[in-house]
Amino acid sequence: MTGNPASGLPRQRAEESLFSPVRIGRLALSNRLVVAPMTRVSATVDGRATEGMAAYYRSFAEGGFGLIVTEGIYTDKAFSQGYQYQPGLADAEQVEAWRQVVSTVHEAGGRIVAQLMHAGALAQGNIHRDHSIGPSALRPKGEQMAFYRGNGPYRIPRAMSEADLGEAVAGFASAAALAREAGFDGVEIHGANGYLLDQFLTEGINRREDRYGGSIAGRLQLLVEVAEAVRSAVGMDHVVGMRISQAKVNDFLHKWVGGVREAEVVFSALGTLPLDYIHTTEFEGWRPAFGDTGPSLAALARMHARLPVLANGSLHDPQRAAAMIEGDEADFVSLGRGALTHADWPTRFREGRALEPFDKCILSPIADLANAERRRSALLDIAS
Ligand SMILES: Cc1cc2nc3c(=O)[nH]c(=O)nc-3n(C[C@H](O)[C@H](O)[C@H](O)COP(=O)(O)O)c2cc1C
Repeated sequence: MTGNPASGLPRQRAEESLFSPVRIGRLALSNRLVVAPMTRVSATVDGRATEGMAAYYRSFAEGGFGLIVTEGIYTDKAFSQGYQYQPGLADAEQVEAWRQVVSTVHEAGGRIVAQLMHAGALAQGNIHRDHSIGPSALRPKGEQMAFYRGNGPYRIPRAMSEADLGEAVAGFASAAALAREAGFDGVEIHGANGYLLDQFLTEGINRREDRYGGSIAGRLQLLVEVAEAVRSAVGMDHVVGMRISQAKVNDFLHKWVGGVREAEVVFSALGTLPLDYIHTTEFEGWRPAFGDTGPSLAALARMHARLPVLANGSLHDPQRAAAMIEGDEADFVSLGRGALTHADWPTRFREGRALEPFDKCILSPIADLANAERRRSALLDIAS
């Protein structure tokens, strides 16, 4: 289960494995290829998804992806918003705007899950609050992200009170119910990448001495409450997943201090929650999660949570992606930069057309759709 021998898998076999149908909960998917969640800071200033976003998401459905996970969507009009022009699911207008996106994707035969995100201490552009909150009053590492219109160090968050925690949990539940109302096929709880839930999970960032800190069970407590509240909000027949990572957007190299043993405890606990899948993300998702040998994070999740696993991280090479499935490390794979390069990545692969490398200019200087469009037009001009 280690090493993901990408080169050894024949092309035909890779295609069969990536294009076999599968179910997540009650949701039937035509293949194993998923668009990874990607923040594009392209909503209106008050958090409504736009027609441009509908066209963007539709292009992935037309391009053959079995499932799309949206960008991280903020969950309340309190402390959850991370970025200016991030979309929300916190009022009727935002629901209506997402309804247009979802129906466009459905018309094109796609399936779409809303990623629910609370930025916590990493909030750098919140129109609803002028300060941030987190598990403990510690300034996050690193600098605010320029391509999401931030600059300079993060602010020091206020340590969350019991009331703040209740508000955050209620926000996730209410956003999940609104996602269902907007027609989404499910929700993914963002427990990864250094945002609020991951801040709670992470030793050193969470220095609380109450029942939300300390042992792994304490650090998982908020994730447990959110998963349960979201499930109660949407009912049993709606897909609910959770994303988990070691690395953070402000600390790419972070590893869980307790290594494989910590992974076993975390994933075993998550496996008891009312979740339909776990989405793991690592820089290179096929590599051993700890050190030079041993299972990948996806494999550890599958082994211990015993839930379907969606693996992410530099899996845009089809053989490498398929090897995750063939090797029983994952049930699906998600592509971020690969999908930005080719919204029709699945169709292209099937037709034997070239898969180009990712061009980071798509996201520079701002990671929004307008910038990507300018980049595309410039390339077309050069080609013509
Ligand atoms: C522009 C951009 C925005 C992202 N936004 C999110 C996000 O909102 N939520 C999330 O969980 N991950 C986010 N990610 C991480 C991706 O989902 C994915 O984990 C990362 O790109 C690595 O996968 P890849 O190697 O296939 O690109 C983002 C990545 C990019 C490039």
